[in-house]
Amino acid sequence: MTTSPPVPLEPLYALSDEVLQSRIQTAKESLGDQCVILGHHYQREEVYHFADLTGDSLKLSRLASQRTEARYIVFCGVHFMAEVADILSAPAQTVILPDLAAGCSMADMADLPNVEQAWRDLGKGLDCEQTIIPMTYVNSTADLKAFCGDHGGAVCTSSNAEKMLTWAFSQREKVLFFPDQHLGRNSGHRLGIPLEEMALWQPGLPNGGLTSAEIHRARILLWDGFCSVHTMFQPAHIALFRQRIPGVQVIVHPECSFDVCQQADYRGSTEQIQDRVRAAPSGSQWAIGTELNLVNRLKKEMPDKGIFFLCPTVCLCATMFRIDLAHLCWVMDNLVQGHVVNRIAVPAREAASARRALERMLAVV
Ligand code: 13P
Ligand code: SF4
Repeated sequence: MTTSPPVPLEPLYALSDEVLQSRIQTAKESLGDQCVILGHHYQREEVYHFADLTGDSLKLSRLASQRTEARYIVFCGVHFMAEVADILSAPAQTVILPDLAAGCSMADMADLPNVEQAWRDLGKGLDCEQTIIPMTYVNSTADLKAFCGDHGGAVCTSSNAEKMLTWAFSQREKVLFFPDQHLGRNSGHRLGIPLEEMALWQPGLPNGGLTSAEIHRARILLWDGFCSVHTMFQPAHIALFRQRIPGVQVIVHPECSFDVCQQADYRGSTEQIQDRVRAAPSGSQWAIGTELNLVNRLKKEMPDKGIFFLCPTVCLCATMFRIDLAHLCWVMDNLVQGHVVNRIAVPAREAASARRALERMLAVV
């Protein structure tokens, strides 16, 4: 540890990208194996370039639990991802999120008081602990993962939601799925559950706005949450591409609406999208419905394929975009000086319960 004061953030904004890049590189070399940078596929290019390991949420969760030699995990992604890294990493490891304002608007659509209220409302007509599995998409706060851990439930990601729902139905007859209604509906439908047996739970309304008959009929209760980026993609965009480029293949993220997912050729997590397009033959044509940074990266990487962004307007994840070179440089320079800034530390009891829910997932997939 040094006695030098922490490096301030503001002056870094005045520096050019070249200077920031060179400072980050120097800090990275100086920290060596002590520090690992994890990068989600939606990170802007100049930040993604510095990631030692990249992936979708599931892959990054696993990596966070495996890189036990790194004292510092700098997470270039959003808040819930850094929380998962903290929960799954060893106690001696420190997780850092370069900008604390990098959240996920979908994760913010479900909170513990409303989920607990839903559990109480459902408990009026059902024995919840015997009948309902609470399942949270990984895009959620740690306290909701802890809620699932404490009530026999689990976490899922976009790459394993169907498997996790299958697991859930092997335990109990119903699932309360939050916060993304689209991932829940798309995955439930692929398992053969009719739409009428997936009811939308509207937090804030008594009994989620459902009648007791609707609750009893539902196999999945879908929380009324969504991703504002992925709900921009529309069936009309797919129709337009099919008309313009005969033979085009459409691949979308399962956070897209039901109609979009139904009309696409493939659905998958960010890693699965990347893998499928990479494995496709040269000359193949792809319209991709997920965040712009990933699509642009694939386009640059594979100039021999036709790769198009499915939406005619720009849709990028504004919170992912908050992690920029200045913030990455700031946290790295501070580590070199012996200062930890923007640490993500989930309280121990909450982390223990959340870990149970995450480990149930990791045991299934
Ligand atoms: P993936 O797990 O597919 O990377 O998705 C994370 C996410 O936030 C998508 O919007
Ligand atoms: Fe959250 Fe949507 Fe951004 Fe993914 S793309 S992090 S779901 S707001």
